[in-house]
Amino acid sequence: MRRPVIAGNWKMFKTVAQAEALAEAVCQGASGDVDVVMAPPFTALSAVAQVLKGSRVGLAGQNMHHETEGAFTGEVSPAMLKDVGCSHVILGHSERRQLFGETDEGVARKTGAALAHGLTPIVCVGETLAEREGARTMEVVERQVERALRGLSADQVAALLVAYEPVWAIGTGRTATPDQAQEVHAFIRKHVSGSHGAPAAAALRILYGGSVKPDNIGALMAQADLDGALVGGASLEAFSFLKIVHYPPDVR
Ligand code: PGA
Repeated sequence: MRRPVIAGNWKMFKTVAQAEALAEAVCQGASGDVDVVMAPPFTALSAVAQVLKGSRVGLAGQNMHHETEGAFTGEVSPAMLKDVGCSHVILGHSERRQLFGETDEGVARKTGAALAHGLTPIVCVGETLAEREGARTMEVVERQVERALRGLSADQVAALLVAYEPVWAIGTGRTATPDQAQEVHAFIRKHVSGSHGAPAAAALRILYGGSVKPDNIGALMAQADLDGALVGGASLEAFSFLKIVHYPPDVR
């Protein structure tokens, strides 16, 4: 059985004080049967790490450079994320790909670097609206998954997280239907089974992201190949995020 993961991507929101308050509230309300992860902005990682100390809640960076250190103004390294207490790192988010020119090759380099530093990558993939309407969803997602995981061992793939986030569903209030999400999740798992073997595919946790809210999480999590969610907007308040964390137990 794959243990569910609910991760909150705070994007470019929250001052340090706001981040501490949110982390504290989430930490107090998080339950034991779901892995909970929070991804504050870099400036709040250290403070949130203090809040999460002794809890089982994971801490994620929202991005990183693939090198350990160097003359890369404005960048943060995997070693720095680890040093500050991160357990996870979001890689290849569609906002990074679309607004900051991240490529499949760059995401692959970062994925390898994260694993080498003991960070669990949350590798984001997903098609744009034009790609979906052009019936290219599977082709795009397959390419993104293939390039990100190429060169990794079966054990490494089994340990990481993939987040399927259709770009048209992010921040739009337009969630993929449970069937649409399941179709792509099953496709990703089948692809990984071919590339890294059935046991790695069976262990791989695939999260859905894109306008996940308290009222749609239950139907999404009822799908066989959905193992969790990457939540943006609804993770910015403890009340809505915890409602997602505590999604109806009958679909677990
Ligand atoms: P959203 O963002 O939940 O606000 O759509 C999801 C994400 O970007 O990870």
